[in-house]
Amino acid sequence: VQTATNSHARRLFDGIATAYDTPAEVFSFGQYGRWRRFAVRTLRLPPNARVLDVATGTGLVARDLRRLQTAAVFGLDQSPRMLGRARARGGFAVTGGRAEQLPFADTTFDGLTFTYLLRYVDDPPVVLAELARVLKPGAPAASVEFGVPDGRITGPLWHLYAARFFPAFARLISKGWHEVGGFLPNSIIEFNRRLPPTDVAALWEKAGFSDVRIKRMSFGAGVVTWGRRRG
Ligand SMILES: C[S@@+](CC[C@H](N)C(=O)[O-])C[C@H]1O[C@@H](n2cnc3c(N)ncnc32)[C@H](O)[C@@H]1O
Repeated sequence: VQTATNSHARRLFDGIATAYDTPAEVFSFGQYGRWRRFAVRTLRLPPNARVLDVATGTGLVARDLRRLQTAAVFGLDQSPRMLGRARARGGFAVTGGRAEQLPFADTTFDGLTFTYLLRYVDDPPVVLAELARVLKPGAPAASVEFGVPDGRITGPLWHLYAARFFPAFARLISKGWHEVGGFLPNSIIEFNRRLPPTDVAALWEKAGFSDVRIKRMSFGAGVVTWGRRRG
C-alpha cells in the first residue's frame, strides 16, 4: 500500500529526475560522491556477489558499486522517472518497488546499500528489518544520510546555507528543485533531531544487523553507517 509519505517522495523525485546528478554534487560542494564512495568501499563482498541498492534514484551508488566492486548490481526505486535515468545509465539491473516491501526472497543478496532513504519512510525500524531480510547472514550493508554539523563555526554556517542559500539557488534550477529547496533543510534537521546517527545505529542493531559503525564526514554533513546482517 502506498502511504502519503511514499506519494510525497515519489512526486518530489519524479520532479527532479531529469536534472539530479550535477545539482546534487554542486549543492554538497562535491561531497555527495565522496560520501557515496566511502560507503561503497566499506562493503567486503565475496566473489560473484549480488548487491542490492535500495532507493537507487538515478543509479549513482549502483554505478559506483560496479566501478569499485566486482558484483552484479540491482537497483530498486519507487520513482519511475528516477529509475528511467538509472536504466539509461546501463551496467546494472533496475526494478520498481518500495523499500517497505522488497520484491525479493529472504537471503537473496550478498550485500546491500541504501542512501537517503530512511528520511522518506514512515517507519524506519520496519524498513531496516525488511532490508535485513533480503541479506544473507553475515552480508554487509552500507548507507549514507545527511547529518547536521554541530561545530562552533560549521554548525551556524551549515544552518545559514541550508536555510538561505540552498533554497535560493535551488529555485533557479527548476520547479522541482524549488520544491526540494523548501523541503530538504527542515527534513534533514527534523530527522536528525528525531533520530541522531547513534540512534539510527541502534535501530540497525535492533533490526538484525551487527558490528554497526558510523562515520560523520564533512563536519557531520554526511553520515555513513555500515554493518552486517547478524548470523
Ligand atoms: C535523495 S534520492 C537518492 C538517490 C540515490 N540513492 C543517490 O544517492 O543518489 C532518494 C531516493 O529514494 C527514493 N525513495 C524514497 N522513498 C522510497 C521508498 N519507500 N522505496 C523506494 N525508494 C524510495 C526516491 O524515489 C529517490 O530516488
